Amino acid sequence: MADDLVNSYKTGPDDQGRFGIYGGRFVSETLMPLILDLEAEYERAKTDPEFWAQMDDLWTHYVGRPSPLYYAERLTERLGGAKIYMKRDELNHTGAHKINNVLGQILLAMRMGKTRIIAETGAGQHGVATATVCARFGLKCVVYMGATDVERQAPNVFRMRLLGAEVVPVTSGRGTLKDAMNDALRDWVTNVRDTFYCIGTVAGPHPYPAMVRDFQSIIGKEVKEQIMPREGRLPDTLIAAIGGGSNAMGLFYPFLDDKEVRIIGVEAGGHGVDDRMEHCASLSGGRPGVLHGNRTYLLQDADGQILEGHSISAGLDYPGIGPEHAWLNDIGRAEYVSITDKEALAAFQLCCQTEGIIPALEPSHALAHVIKIAPDLPKDHLIVMNMCGRGDKDIFTVAKHLGVDIQT
Ligand SMILES: Cc1ncc(COP(=O)(O)O)c(C=O)c1O
Repeated sequence: MADDLVNSYKTGPDDQGRFGIYGGRFVSETLMPLILDLEAEYERAKTDPEFWAQMDDLWTHYVGRPSPLYYAERLTERLGGAKIYMKRDELNHTGAHKINNVLGQILLAMRMGKTRIIAETGAGQHGVATATVCARFGLKCVVYMGATDVERQAPNVFRMRLLGAEVVPVTSGRGTLKDAMNDALRDWVTNVRDTFYCIGTVAGPHPYPAMVRDFQSIIGKEVKEQIMPREGRLPDTLIAAIGGGSNAMGLFYPFLDDKEVRIIGVEAGGHGVDDRMEHCASLSGGRPGVLHGNRTYLLQDADGQILEGHSISAGLDYPGIGPEHAWLNDIGRAEYVSITDKEALAAFQLCCQTEGIIPALEPSHALAHVIKIAPDLPKDHLIVMNMCGRGDKDIFTVAKHLGVDIQT
């Protein structure tokens, strides 16, 4: 497993963790030794068959992998064009792709003798996955979560607490993912000895973007294996939603060398990508800068101050994007588009009613783009979209937008 999951695409990052001009590690002196230790441990683990045997065992028996590749027949018929497949990562234990990566990082933390795990979370899915794996291995877990997200993702906050994690609401900024990540980094600097920072997406200082991508690449690797016996060829188009970009990198990475496969990342267009900046489409509406230890596209004002952005989806509400996406965009290997809150909500409802699947609001953005392009594509065109999370956590948000009161 190890060989084909890692190093299959050799162009990035370089030994400084840079993807072109993006990535790198912009961190304080205090953190540098920790980051170098982590990099060394990950390099050892990458080629250690025992590490990958343990990952495989947990992926199979704890997470429930491989997740199915499902032909969305009714949606395909309804749209009348391309043939639509969904990679069902919402069926994983804890309901999203986040656990694929958390398992890898927690196993590394234990190899490094760390006993306290910290994490940031937006939608709460990464927090739930981290709390879950910490409970499984008896580790202390502290999750930083923006106060706004604590409110809009209440079921996940309760889940984390049930699993024994301490959830720390973050009130700075607009109380979303960026602010949670700031506080997690602050915690890490002050607790360097026993603490491991488990980052939930392909962002942060090197080696996180490459390491998280490698752990999530199981998604694309399975798609490759699953589509061949079904269709006898690779998909024509891959589509995934992007917050920081981990589920998307996980789907895309094993296909990067297959130049005939079109790759589309979908950012959160919020209320529309324009000067009001009420969106989280960093590639479409931002420019390069430095945040959370790496250089990438960011939403910022003329002075370089980070803007808060907006998305209906807590998991996409991040003003940056993983550096590898920034690079794939610049070199033209992947395309990036945006979908508004309204379009995502419509896709959410259509998915519930045509496929009997309640999707999270994050993959609803990917689905909305599928809905946009599928009708004009030929019937033998194969689209695979990543259904990276289930929608239970979002029913209160959706109800509110539909004007339905389900709280009382
Ligand atoms: C279900 C789901 N999908 C997507 C995301 C966005 O993260 P990423 O872009 O790293 O996959 C999140 C983040 O919380 C999520 O919960």
